[in-house]
Order: sequence, then C-alpha cells, then structure tokens
Amino acid sequence: MSQDSQNAGPTLPDGMLLEGIVTTLDADGSPHIAPMGPIVDAEFNCLVLRPFRTSVTYANLKRSGAGVLHVTDDVELLARAAVGRLDQLPRLVPAEAIEGAILADACRWYAFHVVSLDDRDERTRIVARVVDRGRLRDFFGFNRAKHAVVEAAILATRVGLLEANHIRSELERLAVLVEKTGGHQERRAFAFLRSHVSEELARLASDTAEKAVR
Ligand SMILES: Cc1cc2nc3c(=O)[nH]c(=O)nc-3n(C[C@H](O)[C@H](O)[C@H](O)COP(=O)(O)O)c2cc1C
Repeated sequence: MSQDSQNAGPTLPDGMLLEGIVTTLDADGSPHIAPMGPIVDAEFNCLVLRPFRTSVTYANLKRSGAGVLHVTDDVELLARAAVGRLDQLPRLVPAEAIEGAILADACRWYAFHVVSLDDRDERTRIVARVVDRGRLRDFFGFNRAKHAVVEAAILATRVGLLEANHIRSELERLAVLVEKTGGHQERRAFAFLRSHVSEELARLASDTAEKAVR
C-alpha cells in the first residue's frame, strides 16, 4: 500500500467535486473564508480537500484540524472571497461541534474534522469527516450566470498561471451568459471579477516591463 493510500482515511464511494466555500479559523480565532472544491461522497460524510500549500485554508486546517464546508448560491461572496477581497465579513454564527464559523446565509453547511493530511505535494490532500451539518435555506437552482461567475472566479485565481489572452477570451464568453441570464448579484459579481482581473493583468504586464528594462 502506498503512503498516500495509507494516509487517505475512509475511501470515497461515488465521489464528486463540489464547488463550495470553506471557513476556517486563523491563529487569532478570526474567521477565514475561501472557495474550495472538495470531493464529497453522496451522503456528505467524507470530504477530500485539495488546498495548495500556499493557501491560508491549508495552514488553518493543518493547525486547527477543523473547518466548515458550505453549499451556497451566493456567487458574489464566492467571487470576492476567491481573490481575498471581502470588504466586510458576511453574517457568521459559531459552530457547536467544532471550533469554527458557519455562514448564516448559506444553503447548507457541513462541519468537519481533519482525519488525515498529506502535504508532500504543492497541492495537498486533506481527508475530513463530517461531524455536524445543517440546512438553512433552499438553493436557487441551475442558472448559467451563476455558473459563469464561478468559472470567472476560478480564472481570477489563476492570473499569472494562465495566458492573459486565454483569460480575457474566456471572460468575454462568460460575459454573454451573465448578460443573458443573470440578476443583479451575478452582474455585480462578474463586473467585480472583470475589473479585478484587468487590474491584475495590468500589474503583471508592468512588472514584466520593469524587469525587462532593468
Ligand atoms: C470555485 C472555486 C474552487 C476553488 N477550489 C480550490 C481548491 O480546491 N484548492 C485551492 O487551493 N484553491 C481553490 N480555489 C482558489 C482559492 O479559493 C483561492 O486561491 C483562495 O484565495 C486561496 O485560498 P486562501 O484564501 O485559503 O489562501 C478555488 C476557487 C474557486 C473560485
């Protein structure tokens, strides 16, 4: 048996990737909010999180061994948290089964304990067991603009890793879906991501130009 499978903890039948939001606690106890795409089993008993070693979520999970995964349709929160630009914290309530924070406006939440953590690679593998859960409100349902914002948020976290032209053309394609099918929240979230990405791309281009001159 490989070291990885020894560390893996419970196996995941029928695993599927869920784009959610994970809250963890910083060393000083303040909440940290980040979109994450763990693999979940059909009953949501077990999660496999894949945070990069550079992420705050990884550091918090390693230190505290607990967090809360949320299912939400709030793409504006997801967009802002993805690029670390939450102007203000959303409403949070303390979790009871773990030391953690629950997003009060999420649809569902799953409080978990870390069972095993493998951080030999840059992208870590953290297996967690769900120890408490709750349902707060209905999920809006399928909406192409919401999904487009999720895609745009993922692109926004990959500026510097993906080609600038690829990011720009993908955003153009996604913009059509937001225009056609989005409401206010989706339009605001998409406009925010677009301007964040263009600022970041401009900053990268000027850093590169400066280095070339030196
Ligand atoms: C839908 C979505 C899913 C994501 N999934 C992951 C993930 O599984 N692992 C990861 O390291 N970052 C993921 N990210 C990127 C992080 O949310 C983003 O880089 C974040 O700023 C880093 O996390 P931190 O705030 O904990 O440092 C995802 C972003 C989005 C929008």
